[in-house]
Amino acid sequence: MNRPFIVAVDGPSGSGKSSVCAEACKQLGFVYANTGQVYRCVAWLLGEWGLESAEADVVCTRVEQELPMITWDGAQNRFLYQARDLTSFLYEESVGLRASRVAKIPALRTLLLPLQRSVALHTTQAGAVVDGRDIASVVFPEAPLKIFMEASIEVRAQRRVEQLQAHGVVVALSEIQEQMQARDHQDSTREVAPLQQEPDAVLLDTSHLGFEEAVAALVGLIQSRATKLGVSI
Ligand code: DC
Repeated sequence: MNRPFIVAVDGPSGSGKSSVCAEACKQLGFVYANTGQVYRCVAWLLGEWGLESAEADVVCTRVEQELPMITWDGAQNRFLYQARDLTSFLYEESVGLRASRVAKIPALRTLLLPLQRSVALHTTQAGAVVDGRDIASVVFPEAPLKIFMEASIEVRAQRRVEQLQAHGVVVALSEIQEQMQARDHQDSTREVAPLQQEPDAVLLDTSHLGFEEAVAALVGLIQSRATKLGVSI
């Protein structure tokens, strides 16, 4: 079996990554791997275990012990801990902020690499879109296509408000904008694997694109790179 065609997508929170990538995958018959959910899942579990403010080595020891009990169902995009489905707990912006905080721990990032790669590498589909903050630089540095997805802070905050509303969470736009800026700062200034555009990544600014246009742009980039490389997807 050929290796899946891997597309690495990085970008700040709310740039449209998750919804655009998920729909592009549906159209292409690719699997979608949202690695932010891995960090969110771990951050949420640390809260459950009372380890949110624990030292990095305590966090890593516990996560290493528990990792075999965490299952990421890539096809359904669901996260299970033991038999419990945690997916619905992971969407809130507060969980994103906590995820961003734990994501600064270098040893934790290393521990979570195999899980982040697993969904893409084990798929039987022709390709995978993997999104996050360090996919092009660390998780899949050899990806044949790297994309940096951007959008203005105003547009991103508005999109997040709408996304949260769809999950039944009502929040103020200004509050979300502040939280996003704090998270972007944390993600792009951390010492290990900061969010940044890789030199060989294509910039996709979705600020002025509607959802369908952004999906079409992503699908177009993937198809033209595959054609250029002579890969059938
Ligand atoms: O994509 P997201 O907003 O769900 O991600 C939540 C946090 O997880 C994000 O603020 C930083 C961290 N993260 C990371 O450090 N590396 C990744 N590849 C994905 C997410």
